[in-house]
Amino acid sequence: MQSIASLNEQYGIDNRIRFQAGPGQFPMAGLANQFGSAVVSVYGGHVLTYQPTDHAPVLWVSDQAQYEQGKAIRGGIPVIWPWFGAHPTDANKPTHGFARKQLWEVVGSRSDGITTAVTLALAPTPFSAEMWSHPFQLELTVTLGAVLDVALKAINLDDNPVTLSAALHSYFTVSDIGQVLIAGLDGARYLDQLDGMVEKTQDGPVMFSAEVDRIYLDTVNRSAEIVDPSLQRAIRVSGRGSNSTVIWNPWTDKAARMADFGNDEFRQMVCVETANADADAVTLDPEASHELATIIEVEPL
Ligand code: BG6
Repeated sequence: MQSIASLNEQYGIDNRIRFQAGPGQFPMAGLANQFGSAVVSVYGGHVLTYQPTDHAPVLWVSDQAQYEQGKAIRGGIPVIWPWFGAHPTDANKPTHGFARKQLWEVVGSRSDGITTAVTLALAPTPFSAEMWSHPFQLELTVTLGAVLDVALKAINLDDNPVTLSAALHSYFTVSDIGQVLIAGLDGARYLDQLDGMVEKTQDGPVMFSAEVDRIYLDTVNRSAEIVDPSLQRAIRVSGRGSNSTVIWNPWTDKAARMADFGNDEFRQMVCVETANADADAVTLDPEASHELATIIEVEPL
């Protein structure tokens, strides 16, 4: 593991990027500039916090989150790669791939007076090779500016084409899930993961009074906006290189089944995930790359 001292020496930038040990002793990059602040965990290539100047924190992390090798951190922005949900052919493999359960490496940082960015990389490890035999390179660049831009670049280093699905599985803080709505998806088709993947059409904004787990299709030209009157803000989530958007809230029963999720915590969070899920999986030729990005913007209401 890269030491905190060497990370600061190589990639630290005065008043902009500083590394320190976080929970679980995982190295964390703290980014700060005139637009706000963010914390990125080197474990998982995982954005943990984002707070624009003059706004409340935007991302949600469970009080029950576990910071341990081999486990995913519940909250923030887990990197879901190279498969979204269940593995397409092998039910014994864990859901949502392995990238979120790996220690990444810091490979770059920069600050140009406007934006501040850190880049992390992941290459195959013995842990990933047990689940995925294809050579690859992943690069995650987190850029703090007037918006938070999180870009995941996947490069296929295999001699054969490879098909993969992915998501930037962002967890957002809300005042009360029963009081917020998600605008921007009216008329969009979605697969209902709680109803045998039946295709349905969104009518009006998305509202929550029970578990919701949906893959919205053909969302390339749409942004999803979490409208939260109590917090007097709207969080706009847009994508690049993504044609699907996942909306998830576990509600009571699923929350109770998850060891790393407090029973009542579902009220303060919602996931809006920029994704390449289901039919939106991407096939990469040898040496080809694909970028999936999520852009998070906060506006006062
Ligand atoms: C969402 C899925 O993306 O992630 C849900 O649509 C799933 O079905 C949720 O429950 C959380 O998954 P995990 O593996 O982090 O518990």
